[in-house]
Amino acid sequence: MCGIVGYIGNRESQPILLEGLKKLEYRGYDSAGIAVFTEQGLEITKTVGRLANLEGRLSGDPLRGTVGIGHTRWATHGKPSDVNSHPHTDNTLKFSVVHNGIIENYLELKEELMHKGHRFLSETDTEVISHLIAVEYEGDIVKAVQRAVSKMRGAFALGVLTEYEPDKLVAVRYASPLIIGVGEGEKYIASDIPAILEHTRDIYILNDGEMAVLTRDSVQLMTIEGNLISKEMFHVDWDLMTAEKGGFDHFMLKEIHEQPKAYRDTMRGRMSEDGRSVVLPELKMTPDMLRGFKRVHIVACGTAMHAGLVGKTVIEQLARVPVETDVASEYRYRSPIITPDTLVIVVSQSGETADTLAALREAQRCGARVLAITNVVGSSVAREADDVIITLAGPEIAVASTKAYTSQLIAFYLFGLYWAQANGTKNEAEIAHILAAMESLPEQVEKILAQAEVLKGVAESISRHSSLFFIGRGIDYAVALEGSLKLKEISYIHSEAYAAGELKHGTLALIEEGVPVIALMTQEELYEKMLSNIKETKARGAHVLGIINEGSEGETAKSVDRQFAIPRTLPILTPALSVVPLQLLSYYASLALGHDVDKPRNLAKSVTVE
Ligand code: G6P
Repeated sequence: MCGIVGYIGNRESQPILLEGLKKLEYRGYDSAGIAVFTEQGLEITKTVGRLANLEGRLSGDPLRGTVGIGHTRWATHGKPSDVNSHPHTDNTLKFSVVHNGIIENYLELKEELMHKGHRFLSETDTEVISHLIAVEYEGDIVKAVQRAVSKMRGAFALGVLTEYEPDKLVAVRYASPLIIGVGEGEKYIASDIPAILEHTRDIYILNDGEMAVLTRDSVQLMTIEGNLISKEMFHVDWDLMTAEKGGFDHFMLKEIHEQPKAYRDTMRGRMSEDGRSVVLPELKMTPDMLRGFKRVHIVACGTAMHAGLVGKTVIEQLARVPVETDVASEYRYRSPIITPDTLVIVVSQSGETADTLAALREAQRCGARVLAITNVVGSSVAREADDVIITLAGPEIAVASTKAYTSQLIAFYLFGLYWAQANGTKNEAEIAHILAAMESLPEQVEKILAQAEVLKGVAESISRHSSLFFIGRGIDYAVALEGSLKLKEISYIHSEAYAAGELKHGTLALIEEGVPVIALMTQEELYEKMLSNIKETKARGAHVLGIINEGSEGETAKSVDRQFAIPRTLPILTPALSVVPLQLLSYYASLALGHDVDKPRNLAKSVTVE
């Protein structure tokens, strides 16, 4: 997501802030800015676009001073623009804030402040924080920040400066990462280690609910309630490349591990406080309009298309509306039947895929309303669609999509439930039940990730084969398709995904002694049928890995050669868990074969040609 860097010391801060932000460029951003205490007071320079733009502005008019904060923004609330860029300030211009995360109740807080006469310049949630701190200020910035934070709900990593106390830099962490760097006579804050690695390797890692007060010579650590704490300093011995990957060997592995956070971020603020309904304030379409749609087309490419296949089942089961899915490159050339009561949903991580964009335009030309599920605010797809649900996976760097895909699943669950509320196809208790299960998903993914080593061994044996099969039924089949694509993309091993019941109509001819088959078996209703299909493959010599639900190990052991259990969840939610072992299998298979995991041959992260 966004990048934060802050400095308090005896050197000029501007070059340190700019260099720090450059080290975070690899994460992706759409605007940047810095705030520095100069002789004139707290001054801010910020601009949309690349850091080079910011440097351009600062070159003629540098901000001179030894205390400052900087930020690269990846838009979530409000489009990328100069005014939406950080740092933000309040109406007195005495406070300045950089922020990563999302303030769920910012609209409420903003309204209260507007009643008190505050004027807001941006569409961001962050601007509200600077106003809130200004209101709470009674001569002690630490207390003001604590009081402000106690009113905020959501996720935030903050860097705060005030002109009233120019020798202090205040940092807060709640569900968004933040670290403190310790140097001789100088201190730093950063969202990620690479930003400050050049200056210090001694850091404190803040935990959720902790804050730090930095002066040139001291770091005071406390909880956000103000209780002093002490913690061990962490000495970083990573090189810059390893630090960029958060200590992981590849971006793909880092992104697989970021999925619990991506789930939490995508769900955050989209469930009512009592957990009994979905709220999607970003949708311009009303529940009445939603009730008017009688069919859905889901259109996308690649992995996003596979998320759409899960989305089809989700919308059909929850909202009881028929859904067709199409790959975007086919959609507009088949004269799709688009009626005024058709809702077209396009799914795109980047929001820039040419085929998806062309399909969106075609749908709108035919009079359809288009809802986009995308990870990039301000992307072409986000700008042109009539409604947008942003996934909050954060920038995805590895070509093979992982956390973007699973965040798209979360978006479909939320939207499917929202539609079910509108249609009355699920009652409040049923919705609350599904939402509660969704809230457990992040922790359940963590459990799967903790077993990565088991999958490494399986992947190494898979990597010795030239061809394999993924099979599943129902929603498991949609996940099988994604598992197979992932493997092909980065290990270059041929694989096919098949609806398990269809194998016997042809593909079974390819199963011979030792061929690996990965069987997804998470749908209890279809379990018996899956066992029959597995038997068909085993009779021809297949070596079967079953992806099963926890608790069915004893039963399944009789039918498969190996098994991997995922934690139990509701049948419709299993894709959010069962895909994770498949991602890890692909990753480790690619690694075993010595391929470039993050940049596979012949593929691009974003395909902007048709
Ligand atoms: C490329 C990427 C895939 C991605 C697809 C669609 O092929 O390599 O990982 O799924 O484009 O991208 P989008 O940004 O529209 O989701």
